[in-house]
Amino acid sequence: MTSDDIIKVVIDSKLRGRGGAGFPAGRKWSFVPKDSPKPRYVCVNADESEPGTFKDRYIMERDPHQLIEGTAIACKSINAHAAYIYVRGELGLAAVRVQQALDECYAAGILGKNVMGSGYALDIYLHRGAGAYICGEETALLESLEGKKGQPRLKPPFPAVEGLFACPTVINNVETLAAVGPIIQNGAAWWTGLSRTEAEGGTKLIGVSGHVARPGVYELPGGLTLREIIFEVAGGMRNPDRKLKAVVPGGTSCPILLPHELDTAYDFDAIKKVGSMMGTGCPAVIEEGTCIVRLLKRIERFYAHESCGQCTPCREGGDWLFKIISRIEAGQGSMADIDKIESVASKIEGHTICAFGEALSWPARSYLKKFREEFVEHVKQKRCPYGPIPVAPVALSGVVA
Ligand SMILES: Cc1cc2nc3c(=O)[nH]c(=O)nc-3n(C[C@H](O)[C@H](O)[C@H](O)COP(=O)(O)O)c2cc1C
Repeated sequence: MTSDDIIKVVIDSKLRGRGGAGFPAGRKWSFVPKDSPKPRYVCVNADESEPGTFKDRYIMERDPHQLIEGTAIACKSINAHAAYIYVRGELGLAAVRVQQALDECYAAGILGKNVMGSGYALDIYLHRGAGAYICGEETALLESLEGKKGQPRLKPPFPAVEGLFACPTVINNVETLAAVGPIIQNGAAWWTGLSRTEAEGGTKLIGVSGHVARPGVYELPGGLTLREIIFEVAGGMRNPDRKLKAVVPGGTSCPILLPHELDTAYDFDAIKKVGSMMGTGCPAVIEEGTCIVRLLKRIERFYAHESCGQCTPCREGGDWLFKIISRIEAGQGSMADIDKIESVASKIEGHTICAFGEALSWPARSYLKKFREEFVEHVKQKRCPYGPIPVAPVALSGVVA
């Protein structure tokens, strides 16, 4: 197939990026300028660091060849002769398995100077990150790959025009690229036919976690509702005596949903109607009896720690949010603190170079909007109404009993 043939099939398949934003993959590839004299690159975003997200790891550990196949096809579509798989530092087993698979491909002549006797040269390199969440943001990933501090770049220029080493670059998520091989093999119509929704095609890996009976990664047709996923696929609540309280739909950066908001299709477009996002496609299920303020404190601790520090609203605001919410959770907050959460969060959102600012302000704003009374109760009772943080008993030897 020619480059244009490949891009057309991927556009027709309506494959949308699985890294969080849902940008159509084929269209992204079509933006790479055809007449550029510079080399082109494909970067695989395997930095999967969003809390509650664990589906790319699954592909890399269990079927790395499918990722390599999709990456090679993406390279062919933009005429790239080198690709980099940027694996999150903590994903040790995934890195080992991907490297093994790459070695096998070289040994079998699938990668290297003469791919399957075609005369096309292609090298794919594995690059391990050092464990920074921000390196999942595509331009921070590029900086890190270039050996610099992983901090996001201003856009434009977009990576398709000026990406890795200032050359045209396509960056795609692991799951996005893993879908490409089967699409090329079976055709766009086959892929779109697997989905319930018209707007996007195929199946999606859904990583369900939290208080469900059967947490795990499920490959499901696009467009199921969250209610179907939680109650029919993942077996419902792990503790049938406790009702569902809320769902964090696609990684901790997504606005939280209430039980009555779970009946829209869980896809990139439909879920926006209830004010949230599908994000990484990994919903975390929360049962009654869980302290929302404590949950938000834990989330903000993560984001405050992971801010790259480049933009003041994010660097300072994340820490402020964590401190204010911690104060409230400890029963030492005031009513003014509750309003301060909204005030600080609203000044971060939209005021940073990358969407990390949104990732730390959306949970704060949405948890406050939907569970304000819980914040108020913490202030009024001067303690957490759910009691102290449960601590697992620890034996003297340090081994958890
Ligand atoms: C703070 C931040 C962290 C991100 N982390 C990841 C990540 O770990 N993995 C990922 O695939 N995309 C991540 N993204 C999205 C990437 O910037 C980019 O949109 C994605 O890799 C594009 O691939 P796709 O079109 O196949 O989804 C992150 C974005 C932001 C703003």
